[in-house]
Amino acid sequence: MMILLHIIASARGELSHSRRAGQAAAQALLTQCPSLTLIERNLGRFPIPHPDARFVEASLMPEDQRGDAQHAALTLSETLIDELDTADFVVLSTPMHNFTVPSVLKAWLDHIVRPRRTFRITASGKIGLLRDRPVRILLACGGALGDAAEQIDFATPYLRYVFATIGITDLQVLPLENLNRGAGAQAVTQASLHAWLDRFSSRAVTDR
Ligand SMILES: Cc1cc2nc3c(=O)[nH]c(=O)nc-3n(C[C@H](O)[C@H](O)[C@H](O)COP(=O)(O)O)c2cc1C
Repeated sequence: MMILLHIIASARGELSHSRRAGQAAAQALLTQCPSLTLIERNLGRFPIPHPDARFVEASLMPEDQRGDAQHAALTLSETLIDELDTADFVVLSTPMHNFTVPSVLKAWLDHIVRPRRTFRITASGKIGLLRDRPVRILLACGGALGDAAEQIDFATPYLRYVFATIGITDLQVLPLENLNRGAGAQAVTQASLHAWLDRFSSRAVTDR
């Protein structure tokens, strides 16, 4: 069974641009490969807690020293890691919040990126422990990105770096820009989304 995991980081439900774009990407994949099973992790609707003191203590403790309390503190983290690790394909739809990812997505990453579990530390740097797989990211922004824009995009380099840390480098980010700049600007972004979806659905699964 092949699994498609769609992670939704917007809290705006039906109104969310990134969620709609992610659903279109997931639908394109399902049309191309009907045997895919879709799993949704909706962080916007069902936010996960930020790491607490029990999580921090347990995640830094060597596995053979953990007791029941430490295992319990890592239960959600293990669930989220397993969900990611069983996915063959990941679509991540997220807004940009203050030049980077929203805090609920940061919380998800903090549960996923764990020493000796999803990466290990060596003298020459960190080595990811998850197998690589395609991750396609739809990043919705109110304004523009790029060199001429009035803001710096910290989300894209951050997401590339953090996924690479756990072993996932097959990553593409499609920025959905200018979504708060009127209907004309939105139409341009919609057109770029549709062009991307056309390329995406013809190559996404067969390229693997
Ligand atoms: C708290 C907050 C911070 C935001 N920060 C930025 C930002 O730094 N850059 C930007 O272009 N848009 C920013 N926006 C606008 C959102 O990225 C934009 O509305 C986007 O469409 C939201 O995605 P969604 O429609 O999937 O919820 C921000 C919006 C909120 C609510």
